[in-house]
Order: sequence, then structure tokens, then C-alpha cells
Amino acid sequence: MTTTGTAPEILKAMATETEQKENDEEEANIRCQKKPEEALEAKSLPGIISAYLNYPEAAEENLKKWDRSYQKLSPAHKALVPHFPMKLQRLRRCISMNSHFIFNMLQAFEPSIDLSQHMREPLTETLSIEELQRMEDHGSLKNHFVDTRINNKTCGYEGGQLNHDHVSVTFSSHDWLDSSLQTHVPLVDVDKVRWVIRNIVRDWAAEGQIERDQCYKPILEELDSLFPDRQKESPPTCLVPGAGLGRLALEISCLGFISQGNEYSYYMIICSSFILNYTQVSNEWTIYPWIHTNCNSLSDNDQLRPISIPDIHPASVGVTQGFSMCGGDFVEVFNESSQAGMWDVVVTCFFIDTAHNVIEYIETISKILRDGGVWINLGPLLYHFADEHGLENEMSIELSLEDVKRVASHYGFVIEKERTIETTYSSNPRSMMKNRYYPAFWTMRKKCAITT
Ligand SMILES: C[S@@+](CC[C@H](N)C(=O)[O-])C[C@H]1O[C@@H](n2cnc3c(N)ncnc32)[C@H](O)[C@@H]1O
Repeated sequence: MTTTGTAPEILKAMATETEQKENDEEEANIRCQKKPEEALEAKSLPGIISAYLNYPEAAEENLKKWDRSYQKLSPAHKALVPHFPMKLQRLRRCISMNSHFIFNMLQAFEPSIDLSQHMREPLTETLSIEELQRMEDHGSLKNHFVDTRINNKTCGYEGGQLNHDHVSVTFSSHDWLDSSLQTHVPLVDVDKVRWVIRNIVRDWAAEGQIERDQCYKPILEELDSLFPDRQKESPPTCLVPGAGLGRLALEISCLGFISQGNEYSYYMIICSSFILNYTQVSNEWTIYPWIHTNCNSLSDNDQLRPISIPDIHPASVGVTQGFSMCGGDFVEVFNESSQAGMWDVVVTCFFIDTAHNVIEYIETISKILRDGGVWINLGPLLYHFADEHGLENEMSIELSLEDVKRVASHYGFVIEKERTIETTYSSNPRSMMKNRYYPAFWTMRKKCAITT
């Protein structure tokens, strides 16, 4: 992994025009140095774009399957649910609205490689069998997890600047959006696209407010009370590894911190970049996140209900200058010596159990915090690489909470506050089934420098 200068490759999601120019130069320098990373991007991105492009077809396949089952009913049984064909038609309209959103999102995406060339190449190596297997398993068993490891790469991604004139944005040639270039999309990737759509509700819809109040509010309140005298001239710095779709990092910025989200899934990055950088007005888009399953619905109308996104206009909510999103693997990006002691706070929310080696995460968090800095964590220990069939060679260190705390203490952390929170994760508020989590919520302070 290559990083440049003192900072990892960063998307300045919100910047002044002057800053933007400086960033452009910096990004140009970065681009010059990232050939090997571009190769990795070339390897993973086409599969992800294909998965997004494939969304309408995959969704239509589902409808056909449901229709085939319906057609097998006897006339008497059919007569009991006569509205079913109409429901399929309504679902088709919902799919086309979701596709509309996805297509606009892809149009705004500016990859740093010439994708049209790569989209024509066979995607045989996009994801390893083990990875596909892992994702399949997570899809069914551990439903708070979506990831596409971008092959350990630090991905710079470029987006527009907030407050830009949307109409004047000129997209570079997007012939890679030609759906005829899309290749076979594994089912697991189809699921990842649907998972991102669900995650949009958690981060960017009014309906996600309950979950945000459960997960993000305690963190924001804690930050507020720990840093009561935040100065506009020198705001405290906060890193949010595993930032998902970016809402928590944005909220932290609005609170008066220089906030940076870090995320390694291109599925997430493409979507958060679109919402953060290209939103014109709140509730600009309508999506139908709950249409992909008929299970546990109270009614068809519940299943087909529209969700307006985003619930806020990110450019108008008053972010603190310096808000950014940084792509790449947390450990790889932030283990750079330039990052040591750089942060006042690290906030992890539903993140630490994404590690192959949670000790490495804790070590990195300790390293990048200044002495006296704080680590706020909220999350379960549903280790993502645990119990994975076919992944016997994948490392997965699965520590109990007690051991996590012991390791943290070794790296200089002292617990200041600790409690349990009750919450859901990306669940449909109107579903008859909701997974409940009882994650640990703690504040730890790094007491002294640690030599390892
Ligand atoms: C369960 S989600 C939580 C997202 C967000 N914090 C929230 O609470 O909604 C975990 C996120 O961490 C990301 N992630 C996993 N491993 C990562 C790594 N090593 N570096 C950066 N991000 C990672 C995943 O892609 C995913 O978006």
C-alpha cells in the first residue's frame, strides 16, 4: 500500500474552492504514484460496477420466480390472492426507480482507471472463491455485514465538490455504463447491491432515524461531553474507520470536529460519494429498499413503501472544514508512520469485529491516537471471518469482550465509561423479524505512548 505525504489518499468530500484546487494537485501527484493500486482497482471495480448494472436484471429474475410459483397455484387458490399479478407490476416500477437511482450514482462515479477497457475483460479473478463463500455466509448468517475487500488497496476516489452546479458537471466518458458490457454477476454480488440499498436507509433516510438514535446518538453525545470547548480555529480531529455510508462521520463533522471516514468497500464508497457530493436537495431520490423479499411483511404496501433519500442535504448541514472520506483498508492506510499520534479521537461503530485480527485494529487505533486521545467504540463481536466454511486458511482472531479489553489495556487504554446498548442494524422497522444486538459501548483513553 502506498500513501503519499502525510495523509492517505483522501476524497475531500467538502472543501473550499481553493482547497479543492490544492487537492486536485495533490490528487494528481497521488495518481502518478499509484500504478500498482490501479491494477488492483482494475481487478475489483469492474465486478462491482457489473453488480450494480445487473441490479434490474437480477431483481426481474426474482419477480419471474415469484410469478412462476404463483402460476403453479390452482385457479381456486389464485382467486384468493387475485391482486398478486398487480403486485408484480408495482414491484417492477419500484425496481425501475431503484435502477434509476443506481444509474445516476454510477454516472457520477469517476474511477481513476479507464473502466470501459476493463469491463470488456473477463472477470474471472474479481473475487476469490473464498471471498465469495465468505460473503454468501455473511449474507445469510451475519446480516450486518457487507464488504468488498478492495484487494487491500487504498482507493482514492474522486467526486464532485459540494455546492457545485450539478448541471455543469461534465462526466468523463462513461461508456463502461453500457449494460451490455456487464458480465456474469455472482449471486453474492447481487446481494451486496441490495445490502447497500438497505444501508442507505440506516444512514440517509428518515426511517433510519431510530437506528441512528440508538447507535450514533450515544457516540455524538459522548463526543460532545468529552470535548466541550471545541474551537473553530483548531477543531479536534476524529477518525471513523469502517465508516459505511458516511453519516456518522458527517454528523461528527457537524458537531465541530475535523472528521474523516475510512471505508474499504467500493460498494459503499461509490454510494456515499454520490450522496455526500452530488445531493442537490434533501429527499431528492425515491428508493424501495424492502422489495427484495416477500418474507415477514405485514402488508404489500409495507413491502412496497417508498423511502425518500437523503433525509438531509449534506452540503447545508454545516460541516466543519476538513471533512473527508478516505478509501482503503484501515490497518494498511493508518499504520503509516505519518499517522502516528495524529488523532484526538477514533470512533468505531459496528467495526472492530470486521477484523481478521482484532489485536491489529486495537494496536493501530492506539498508534494513531495522541497520548490522552480517546477511543469510542460501539459494536458487537460478531467476527466476520469466524466459522466460515471454505475459509480454513483465513485468519480469524475471535476474542471475548474481556480479552478485547485486556488487549486494549496492553496498548495503553484505560476504560472511562462502559455500558451496553440495545439496537438493530439495517433492519426493516416494519418487518416481523428484527435482529437485535446488545453491543458494547465504551470510551477508553490512551494514557501513555506504547512501545511495541
Ligand atoms: C458493519 S459495517 C458498519 C458501518 C458503519 N460504521 C455503521 O455503523 O453503519 C462495517 C463497515 O466496515 C467496512 N470495513 C470492513 N473492514 C474494513 C477495513 N479493514 N478497513 C476499512 N473499512 C472496513 C465495511 O466495508 C463496512 O462498511
